[in-house]
Amino acid sequence: MSAPLRAIVTLGPTQEPLDEVRFVGNRSSGRMGTEIAAELLRRGCHVTAMAGPCQPPGLDSLPEVVRFRTAEELRAALASRWPSADLLVMAAAVADWRPVEVQAGKRRRSAGRVSIQLEPVGEILGSLDARSNQFVVGFALEPADDLLDSAHAKLGRKRADCIVANPLETMDAAEIDGALVWADGRVERPDGRCAKSLFAAWLTDRILPAARMRAGR
Ligand code: CTP
Repeated sequence: MSAPLRAIVTLGPTQEPLDEVRFVGNRSSGRMGTEIAAELLRRGCHVTAMAGPCQPPGLDSLPEVVRFRTAEELRAALASRWPSADLLVMAAAVADWRPVEVQAGKRRRSAGRVSIQLEPVGEILGSLDARSNQFVVGFALEPADDLLDSAHAKLGRKRADCIVANPLETMDAAEIDGALVWADGRVERPDGRCAKSLFAAWLTDRILPAARMRAGR
């Protein structure tokens, strides 16, 4: 029997600190990524979950969970583990901006109105090197009316093999109305809105054979 496929699933938000108490971040429950990690595990993959600050149901049952808080911590975790993996599912909701200055201690509210300078967080997925036998699944969170056009545009920027396009309403919800957009232009959808666990099984039916073929096992 060939060795199990090695999958990394990133999930949950990043938090970019402003001081020791506050942060800038995205809303993300981490549920979709956890369901995908659990499904890949059920199908015999070796799964490493990389999780931001969140506690979705099922996360504690996964055998290997690497925690990150900031985008830079996630970047470092991927830099050390992605080279020896076969499949990456990048479901993490990486914050788009970070405070330029992180203040020690706690900013006081009595200081009155404050202006916070933010700088963009650098692209993680699109800057990862992928070998020709590795397979990459990105995510795209988009307004429903622009879902597919934006996902197509992101595919190239993110250098992914396919992108799960999610409408904004997916955040924190138990259900998802997502579509899978492939680099060759194909778009696949499950039959309507479904529970995230069902979507994870539907998605795994599609990405796992493709990743196995790419990895040659
Ligand atoms: N992503 C990443 N690095 C970032 C931002 C996002 O690797 N700095 C990844 C996410 O994990 C996801 C995909 O890129 O797999 C799309 O994320 P999304 O937030 O939809 O897109 P952005 O690149 O942030 O673009 P925008 O916010 O303008 O839609």
